[in-house]
Amino acid sequence: VSSHRALLLPLRPRPQADAPLPPRLDQAQTLRRAAASAASDPAPAFRSVTAFAPATVANLGPGFDFLGCAVADASLSLGDTVTATLDPSLPAGAVAISCITSPSRPRLADRLSRDPLRNCAGIAAVAALRALGVRSHGVSLSLTKGLPLGSGLGSSAASAAAAAKAVDALFGSLLPRDGLVLAGLESEKAVSGFHADNIAPAILGGFVMVRSYDPFCLVSLPCPPALRLCFVLVTPDFEAPTSKMRAALPKNIAMGHHVRNSSQAAALVAGVLQGDAALIGSAMSSDFIVEPTRAPLIPGMAAVKAAALEAGALGCTISGAGPTAVAVIEGEEKGEEVARRMIDAFLSVGKLKATATVAQLDRAGARVISTSNLE
Ligand code: HSE
Repeated sequence: VSSHRALLLPLRPRPQADAPLPPRLDQAQTLRRAAASAASDPAPAFRSVTAFAPATVANLGPGFDFLGCAVADASLSLGDTVTATLDPSLPAGAVAISCITSPSRPRLADRLSRDPLRNCAGIAAVAALRALGVRSHGVSLSLTKGLPLGSGLGSSAASAAAAAKAVDALFGSLLPRDGLVLAGLESEKAVSGFHADNIAPAILGGFVMVRSYDPFCLVSLPCPPALRLCFVLVTPDFEAPTSKMRAALPKNIAMGHHVRNSSQAAALVAGVLQGDAALIGSAMSSDFIVEPTRAPLIPGMAAVKAAALEAGALGCTISGAGPTAVAVIEGEEKGEEVARRMIDAFLSVGKLKATATVAQLDRAGARVISTSNLE
């Protein structure tokens, strides 16, 4: 409970020795509204709400743990869906998981815990209920997994984001932006590590920068609507658990690498804001710290990156903690060829079968896709 409160309500910001960070865009509002809703035990607005949350590409090369973006395909198969339903059979404030399905991967659902405190969607739902101050209703969740586990596409974050969004909407959408992200971050912290570069874009959509964790400060990076950025996502038949890939991170970094990576991350942000796909691609391809330590753990990754660039991609790196490789292109035209070359490289060098999807930037993030009214 105490870690939950510390995470959701950063009431005691540490004094800063140097110049203070500018106030979070909506920090005061976040706290006011969280406190108000906590006091009010909000009434439900619906009997049931279904929300979808997209896949995410975290790190984007040099943005380890602080940059990410949401991606989706036209059929919304790249993401998870959660239905939150008022359940009078549950004790007030309780969460249950009534059903987990994974239509495109039948065995995946069996691997996920039905215990709400050991399930990404369940943990985020409990956190959202607590942040909302719900004390009179229990909620059951039905989770449909569209994303594979441990693939580097933000699978845990998508479940958490969809659950937080559905629960919040069930009670009238009272949580502010950061409140929703913090509810999802509780789940990430418990399941894959304390990093918001998946959960923030899964909820907010588009490109998001985590400027700081304490105080919690997110910056959405608007990119011009004309930017036709596409993501070729190639996922090999290989699991790279985030915890294992985080254990492989370097403990210390050289000053030269810090300078090079910082300038590439800054270039990436500039590329997004300016809508410069080539700059985004080359910056994304230029991580001198994390990619070099993780790529050797993913069979064939270096060859896959080389193949993507040879086929005309603007950049390529590991998506999140991997093993998915992400290449960026402008427009969809080259998508098929880049994907084919990357799949071939995974097979010939890494001896791994792989599947590919060409996705777009998802600017919407977690959203309600259906509701059913109170009787
Ligand atoms: N930033 C996290 C990592 C993302 O690379 O470990 C995990 O998806």
